[in-house]
Amino acid sequence: MTDPQLVLTERVQQALGTAFGPEYAGADPLIRPSQFADFQANVALSLAKRLRRAPREVAQAIADALDAAGTTDVFESVEISGPGFLNITLKDEWISAQAERTLEDPRVGVGLTTPPQTVLVDYSAPNAAKEMHVGHLRTTIVGDSLVRILEHLGNRLIRQNHLGDWGTPFGMLIEHLLDIGEGNAIARLEAGEGSEYYQEARVKFDSDNAFKERSRRRVATLQAEDPETIRLWHLFMNATISYFNKIYSTLGVTLTDDDIAGESMYNRMLAETCADLEASGIATVSEGALCVFPPGFTGSDDKPLPLIIRKSDGGYGYATTDLAAIRYRVRDLKVDRILYVVGAEQALHFQMVFAAARMAGWLTDEVSAEHTQIGMMLGSDGRRFRTRSGVATKLSDLLDEAVERASAAIAERGYDEATRAEIAHTVGMGAVKYADLSVSHDSEYIFDYDRMLAFSGNTGPYMQYATARIRSIFRKGEIDPSAATGPIILGEPAERDLALQLLGFGSVVEHAGASSEPHRVCAYLYETASTFTTFYEKCHVLHDDVPPETRASRLALCALTLNVLQTGLNLLGVPTPTRM
Ligand code: ARG
Repeated sequence: MTDPQLVLTERVQQALGTAFGPEYAGADPLIRPSQFADFQANVALSLAKRLRRAPREVAQAIADALDAAGTTDVFESVEISGPGFLNITLKDEWISAQAERTLEDPRVGVGLTTPPQTVLVDYSAPNAAKEMHVGHLRTTIVGDSLVRILEHLGNRLIRQNHLGDWGTPFGMLIEHLLDIGEGNAIARLEAGEGSEYYQEARVKFDSDNAFKERSRRRVATLQAEDPETIRLWHLFMNATISYFNKIYSTLGVTLTDDDIAGESMYNRMLAETCADLEASGIATVSEGALCVFPPGFTGSDDKPLPLIIRKSDGGYGYATTDLAAIRYRVRDLKVDRILYVVGAEQALHFQMVFAAARMAGWLTDEVSAEHTQIGMMLGSDGRRFRTRSGVATKLSDLLDEAVERASAAIAERGYDEATRAEIAHTVGMGAVKYADLSVSHDSEYIFDYDRMLAFSGNTGPYMQYATARIRSIFRKGEIDPSAATGPIILGEPAERDLALQLLGFGSVVEHAGASSEPHRVCAYLYETASTFTTFYEKCHVLHDDVPPETRASRLALCALTLNVLQTGLNLLGVPTPTRM
C-alpha cells in the first residue's frame, strides 16, 4: 500500500485500537488533505462524545499511540490544532520511497478488491426500432468507463447491452423491410438510416390500413416465433447491430456481440415471471392488467401506483422484461452488484422494478442494484439535444463532426495527412468521451464542440496534451520512460507536491468504482496535470545545469506522472496520441 490516505487510515485505526480498545479500531479516522499539513484527521472530534472525553484529549491520546507505535518512518510530525484536529505531515523520505515503489508497480498503486465481486453493468442499450441517439452516447461512454474501472479493480465484469430489439414496432419494421427489399433495407440500416426507416414505416402504418393490418399480423407471427418471421427479424437486427458496432468501434468502446442481451432474450421468460408473481400474490389483476403495487409509490391522486407487468390485451411491457432480467441476473448469473447506466428520466421505473423484485425475493440484501442515472444531453439552447430540423442527431454524424473539428484545430502543426487523421480521430473521440465523463453522470450537460475541444481546462484534449508533453520530454532527453527509475529525491516543494499527488491515484480509482463516478477520476487527473505543470515550470528537468541525480529523480517523477495519467485515461476509455 502506497497511497498516503490509505496508509494513514490504517495507522490511525491501529492507534485508535491501542488508545481506546479494539472496539474503536474500526472507526473512520476521517483523513482529509489539509492546507496546514499534508493531511488532517478529524476522528478525535467524532469520537469525543462516545469516549466522554474532551476532543483535544482524545487527539493527544491518538498522537501518543502513534508515537508509541514507532511510526516515525512515516510521520514528520503529528500536531494537535484547534478543537482537536490532528495535523499530519509526512516524511519526505517516506513519500519518495512510496513514489519509487509506485513507479515499479504496474498497477500504479491501484489495489485489488477483496473479495472480488461479480458486477453486471447494463449500458448503452439503444433501441433498434430507432436510431441510436445522443442519449445513448452518454450511457455507452459512462458505462464503458465504469466497466473498465471495476474490472481493473479486480472484479469479474459482465457487460450487458439490453438492446431494444423486441415489441410491437417490429411488426411494421419487418413489413417495411419486405416492401423495400431485403438488400436495400440491410444497406440502409447498416449505414445508420434506422431513424428514417422507422419514420417511413410509421407513416405507412398511420395512413395505410392494409399495411397496418399486415404489421399487426406480423407482430403475432413474431411472438409465435414463426421461422420466416424470425429470419426477417434477424436480418433487420443484424444490419442494425452492424451499425451500432461501427459506432462502438469509432468510440473504442469495449462492447462486443457477446454482450448483447436484448429485450428479445427475455421473451420466453416473461410468462413465467408473471406467473411467479401472480402465484405468490405479489401481482394482482387491476382493470384487466396484471400489476404489482410496490408499497410507498403513489400517483398524483395519492392512489397506489401500479407497475404493469401484463397489459389487459395480454401483452408484456418494458417493466416485465426488466423484472425477468433482474431475476435471471441474480439467480442465474449470480451477480453481487448490478449497475443500470440509464437515463435519469427512468428513475421511477427502476425504483419500482427494484421494489417489486425485492418483494418477489429475487433481489436480496446481498445484491446491490443501482440506477446510475445519466443526465440529459442538452443543445446550446438548453433543450434536449437535436439538430436544426428537430430530429434527433445521427450519432455517426456527430462523431464525424468532432473529428473534423479536431482536424481543423491541429491544421497548423505540419503533420502529414495520415498522422493528422490519426491524431484528429484520437482528439475528437477523446474530447467527446471526456466531456461526457468529466461532469457528474447525473447532471444535465450541454453538448458544445468548442468547449469539449478546447486545449485548456478540464477537457480531453488538455489531458491528452499533458501526456504527449511528458512523452516529448523523454524524446528530447533520448530516454525511455521505463528507464527512468530514480532514485526520487524531493528537494523543491513542487517536487514534493507532485509526488504526494501521484500517490493518491489508488484511492481515487477505488472511490470512483464504489460510487460509480468516473468524473472523480477526471477531476483527479486534471489536478495531477496541473500539479505537473507547476512542477515543470519550477523545476528544470533536462537543462544542462541540473545535476545528474536531480535529473534522474525528476525524470522518474515525469515517468510516474505519465503512468498515472495514461492508466487513468485508459480507465476512462480516453485514447492518447503519442504526439499532438
Ligand atoms: N432501451 C432503453 C432505452 O433506450 C434502455 C434500456 C436500459 N436497460 C434496462 N435494463 N432497462 O431507454
